[in-house]
Amino acid sequence: MDLINKWTTRDIPSQRGRLAIVTGSTQGLGLVVAKALAGAGADVIVPARSNTKGEAAVQQIMQSRPAGTARYELLDLTSLASVRDFAQRLVSQGKPLDLLINNAAVMAPKERQETRDGFELQIQTNHLAPFALTAQLMPLLRMATAPRVTQVSSIAHRDGKIDFDDLQWKARKYNAMASYAQSKLADLMFSFELQHRSDANGWGILSNAAHPGIAVTDLVANSRGQDDMMVRMMKFLGSLMRQSAEDGALPTLYAATSPDARPGTYYGPKNRMETRGPVAVAKPAKQSLDLAVAKKLWDASEELTKISFPTR
Ligand SMILES: NC(=O)c1ccc[n+]([C@@H]2O[C@H](COP(=O)([O-])OP(=O)(O)OC[C@H]3O[C@@H](n4cnc5c(N)ncnc54)[C@H](OP(=O)(O)O)[C@@H]3O)[C@@H](O)[C@H]2O)c1
Repeated sequence: MDLINKWTTRDIPSQRGRLAIVTGSTQGLGLVVAKALAGAGADVIVPARSNTKGEAAVQQIMQSRPAGTARYELLDLTSLASVRDFAQRLVSQGKPLDLLINNAAVMAPKERQETRDGFELQIQTNHLAPFALTAQLMPLLRMATAPRVTQVSSIAHRDGKIDFDDLQWKARKYNAMASYAQSKLADLMFSFELQHRSDANGWGILSNAAHPGIAVTDLVANSRGQDDMMVRMMKFLGSLMRQSAEDGALPTLYAATSPDARPGTYYGPKNRMETRGPVAVAKPAKQSLDLAVAKKLWDASEELTKISFPTR
């Protein structure tokens, strides 16, 4: 694993004049990422599913008196109509989009839940909606000089399997962790496949992925509540190996901004099986490199969301 020279937020190059969207930036890692990007001069869009949360995050970002700006836009990933409306608003504003970070996610709800589109909650929030969002923002990404798309995946992708026979967990007993792992594997495969397709079609996009190791956020509690047994257990296990949200955000910031970050590459923390430590090139699980599955997943995602990427 390559160690990238103890990279920190001080190494973020100036983002002045660059437009960035960071999904899931109302709290946790996304908020840290959005603050750092605005601090480096970017104009950051904070998509949120509630006005109150969106405005509160913008306020927090602006309190640090960043060189850039932050503004809120409504986006609920459990609704493909909301994704479409968000993208249409942005496209009608006509500004080139330099950076899209697909960071928002949910993890391991207590029971199987369906979105307004009838898909299982984790596969839609974590993969299908970001896929549709990226596709619909392509006109703006392609207007930018050096557009980048960064997907936030997870160590959990290692346990993932894309089950095309039951992507939605309808036919089997619901396994929330396996569903999360599938969605995070899908994130990583989407990232690699986006780079392949960008190269093949001349879209000019740098697509890469990152993961935070294990970082202190309310990711699981947000789905299950603070009192849940699994939340308590993960907090205990996490206390043995986790790192701060600030450190957990570094691989994403590196992937999204470093001039040295490479296309089609996955970044994460270096130490203790990638759970913490300085930014390094991470190891994608073998199944994430299966090109045939990646193509099939892309086709399935287009079919399910009814959103296609441009062919040229
Ligand atoms: N923390 C870790 O240890 C860890 C480990 C591996 C990977 N990750 C990944 O890191 C990323 C960030 O996670 P985090 O730990 O920072 O979690 P978090 O604090 O729970 O943040 C998740 C973000 O996603 C947003 N979100 C959830 N559902 C949404 C929806 N339907 N529409 C729009 N936004 C939605 C949340 O918005 P609300 O404020 O409205 O809920 C929140 O801003 C995720 O991709 C996660 O899989 C985290």
